[in-house]
Amino acid sequence: GSPGDLAGRHVVVSAGGTREPLDPVRYLGNHSSGKQGLAIARAALRRGADVTLVAANVTLEAPAGARVVEVMTTAELQEAVLTAAAGADAVVMAAAPADFRPATVSGSKIKKDAADPDAGLTVELVPNPDIVRSLVAQRDTHGAPTSSGRAGEDAGRRALPVIVSFAAETGDAQGSVLEHARAKFARKGSDVQVVNEVGIGKAFGQDENTVHLMRRGTDEVLSVGPASKDVVADAVLDAVVDALG
Ligand code: PMT
Repeated sequence: GSPGDLAGRHVVVSAGGTREPLDPVRYLGNHSSGKQGLAIARAALRRGADVTLVAANVTLEAPAGARVVEVMTTAELQEAVLTAAAGADAVVMAAAPADFRPATVSGSKIKKDAADPDAGLTVELVPNPDIVRSLVAQRDTHGAPTSSGRAGEDAGRRALPVIVSFAAETGDAQGSVLEHARAKFARKGSDVQVVNEVGIGKAFGQDENTVHLMRRGTDEVLSVGPASKDVVADAVLDAVVDALG
């Protein structure tokens, strides 16, 4: 990307993995380190953007110059992202939220059954909101109406913000990485999808990444990597600049 091509733009980036508490000392989480999201925030700053970083449990240092909002749970991530997105030019959802959370959070530490120390424990999970879909809904509800009365688009201008979602995928018997990703892109309603090949020793926590970029309205896929997360970050922002027009 060229330096300054995001000057005057406000870019929101989410990074890291959410934690869903089970009790005061335990949580359900995932292996996202936040490295990919931080690389995108860093690259956006270098290219001139104002950056809000919504960081879920990220221990690595945030880039200097970013406005940082720290969150723990998916519900907190959703609130912070929706708030920051109002008036933003682009939202890049690199964070790994939890699809499910425990139905109840115990106020005290869950203990083993004293009478039966070998007994197992069943935890009921309930679905979390889908943040990308709520972002798309917020944009389409609050965008300026066009002359045709359709909400979400200025006359002749695309509706803001550009929404970039990720898709962490593994191939399986039901389909390839790209087949699963195409179905997810259709469900989410985002403008750009970054398909991330994940698995043991792949993507999560690593310094390198392999992604496939999809754009709304074209079947073309741009593959990047294996490459550093900084190189991937610039390719993601190139797609954002392109979508901003
Ligand atoms: O953090 P690193 O260690 O550098 O690793 C990078 C990464 C692999 C975490 C990252 O690049 C990545 O792929 N992030 C998305 C992880 C994820 O949650 O993928 P998903 O396929 O489950 O979700 C698809 C999209 O919907 C994502 O943009 C996600 O942020 C979003 N989502 C997911 C669940 C949810 N409840 N709400 C959402 O908005």
